Amino acid sequence: MMKPVSLDDLKRRIAAEPRVRLCQLPTPLHAVPRFSAAIGAAVVFLKRDDLTGLAFGGNKSRMFEFVLADALKAGADTIVGGAGLQSNYCRQLIAACNSLGLEIHLVLRRTPGQSESIQGNLLLDLLAGANLHVIDSADPEHTLQRTRIFALADELRKEGKKPYVVRMANDQDLSSDVISYVNCFCEIVEQCHELNVTPSRIYVAAGDTTQAGLELGKRALGIPVVIQGACPDHSGGDAARQIAHYANQAARRLGLDCTVEAGDIKNTEDYVGKAYGIPTPEGIAMLKLMARTEGIFLDPVYTSKAMVCLADHVAKGIVGKDETVIFLHTGGNAALFAFAEYLDTAELSSHLSYEK
Ligand SMILES: Cc1ncc(COP(=O)(O)O)c(C=O)c1O
Repeated sequence: MMKPVSLDDLKRRIAAEPRVRLCQLPTPLHAVPRFSAAIGAAVVFLKRDDLTGLAFGGNKSRMFEFVLADALKAGADTIVGGAGLQSNYCRQLIAACNSLGLEIHLVLRRTPGQSESIQGNLLLDLLAGANLHVIDSADPEHTLQRTRIFALADELRKEGKKPYVVRMANDQDLSSDVISYVNCFCEIVEQCHELNVTPSRIYVAAGDTTQAGLELGKRALGIPVVIQGACPDHSGGDAARQIAHYANQAARRLGLDCTVEAGDIKNTEDYVGKAYGIPTPEGIAMLKLMARTEGIFLDPVYTSKAMVCLADHVAKGIVGKDETVIFLHTGGNAALFAFAEYLDTAELSSHLSYEK
């Protein structure tokens, strides 16, 4: 066990890192009493990282403050990367690049059967003028996509540009991404102090760097809050190992004498459903419950499933009746518009009556 550092010390270490300002921080932390009552929980607070500010918000915008500072430091004028066709990450990356005057090229992966309609994140990507190259791929290792991203970077280099490849093609060192969530943990600590609340648990939709940052923040400050991640995909138990690995990378970069063990990470795949990117009926029900009790939208792929995890843990008594819980809303709700077919249109139509 490391000797904890003070909040000021941790903030000083983060402040020493290269960073560009992209987000409206701190994001709000507030209670959702009607939703808490509806799931039978004592007090649920939402940490609103869906309101980070750029292009409908989300957790990735925090990361780009550090990642794109690294790119600018390396002399880049063009960013190259990629993810899925409806990626929240890409939407926010495009917005971040536009606001910094960086050119951006993305290789997006369309999985078999995925709708080609220009909706949700894809619509926003195009409105923001990004250069998109779509490939068809069912390969879970994304080998073709990675190859295409590096080939694209080479082509741009030949044109005289200075490309910088970001993940998913370049995920050797993700300490910048993680540090942004150590910073988020510091914000949560300060806000809880101001609100005079002591949360015992934080729930989050996460498979790697977001949870890694929270885990490192909690250990660095010695705060005994339980962090429960709900993985958006079936990682075969790999998520905990990845989270620990990335947290340890960031610990070294921040000079923290701290080791995160995979065995100490709570990250469940129980709420994924069929697969990554396919909404679950329970998740859709949770999404509607949040919208109908609080007027706040969750997303169909990440946060709605993580909220099912929290509600289920309340129902099973894993979260006690007197506990204060924070749910970190990581955003993603712009994707909703591309998922209408999953949202139980029959039930939605039952609220509609056309007057003659
Ligand atoms: C809305 C949303 N929540 C959670 C995550 C998971 O973040 P991480 O990859 O850092 O675990 C993502 C990733 O894209 C996301 O878009």
